[in-house]
Amino acid sequence: MMKRTIPVLLSLILLMALGSTAGAADYIGGKKCKACHIKQYKAWEKTSMANSFENLNPNVKVEEKKKAGLDPAKDYTTDAKCLKCHTTGYDKPGGFKNMEETPKLANVQCEACHGPGSNYKKVMKKNKKTWKENGYTSDELKSVGLIIPSEDEKTCLVCHGGDSPFNEKLDAKYKFNFKERLKKTHKHFPLKYIKK
Ligand code: HEC
Ligand code: HEC
Ligand code: HEC
Ligand code: HEC
Repeated sequence: MMKRTIPVLLSLILLMALGSTAGAADYIGGKKCKACHIKQYKAWEKTSMANSFENLNPNVKVEEKKKAGLDPAKDYTTDAKCLKCHTTGYDKPGGFKNMEETPKLANVQCEACHGPGSNYKKVMKKNKKTWKENGYTSDELKSVGLIIPSEDEKTCLVCHGGDSPFNEKLDAKYKFNFKERLKKTHKHFPLKYIKK
């Protein structure tokens, strides 16, 4: 037991040290965003994206799976083919791996659309005391990886297209209408500290 834990701990410490200096951002999970963006969190929580992992379990959405040629009795929760679209950052640095190691990145969370947050969160946090006086610019945040998805449909089409079994050929209701879906994604709450 100890023989195994020590190298794991050492590599964790190394990873943490690298993480604080390296340029590439990690996924931190939506709970971290919730602290400052409670309204957006609550709105997102009501969409099916917040429960998208659940649908990979056996005996869930039986009729829908049959129609798509999937096996409703099968457990898809470890199937790479499904995980890339039903979790956050699957197979990317710092993204979802499996339920044992990265449970906080299950489901399609904030960072699936806004990009991995470890770097832009630091900028948002660093300025906490001076939000009111100094504000932010969107460019500043984008330069450290923040994505504003309404600017580019491609952010969505990675999952709402490609090899998704639930596509518009299966049923017209799965057709991706960017404008309509944006409205359902989360309500826009006016920003107070972003300088135009
Ligand atoms: C990482 C993959 C992924 C990305 C990126 C993604 N989605 Fe989704 N989305 C899903 C999955 C999976 C579901 C279905 C959840 C379920 O039922 O299991 C979904 C469901 C939704 C729903 C809820 C269904 C509805 O119509 O009420 C909306 C709205 C939506 N997506 C909008 C968007 C928009 C807009 C974007 C881009 C800005 C986007 N999604 C990007 C994976 C993704
Ligand atoms: C399916 C994609 C998607 C997901 C998931 C998502 N967002 Fe967004 N978010 C958007 C889009 C698109 C906009 C731009 C809305 C606009 O311009 O009207 C946006 C805008 C925002 C804004 C700017 C202010 C506002 O209300 O429009 C904040 C803050 C934000 N999101 C935070 C979050 C947080 C926190 C989460 C997770 C709890 C989250 N988002 C999940 C797509 C997403
Ligand atoms: C390319 C991305 C992608 C892949 C791969 C993918 N999904 Fe999904 N899945 C989606 C999206 C997007 C939706 C939501 C479709 C919509 O609402 O228009 C969805 C919806 C679903 C639903 C809900 C359907 C409904 O009508 O409520 C189930 C169940 C599901 N997926 C299971 C799976 C399983 C199991 C796999 C692997 C065999 C899988 N998906 C692979 C993107 C994907
Ligand atoms: C320490 C607090 C804090 C945390 C944590 C935080 N944010 Fe922010 N974020 C802010 C503030 C403050 C703004 C400016 C809001 C305003 O103008 O009202 C902002 C702005 C944004 C915007 C809008 C940017 C624009 O140009 O329109 C998005 C999108 C966003 N955050 C997403 C996220 C996501 C996703 C996470 C988690 C990965 C996150 N934030 C974590 C404080 C935070």
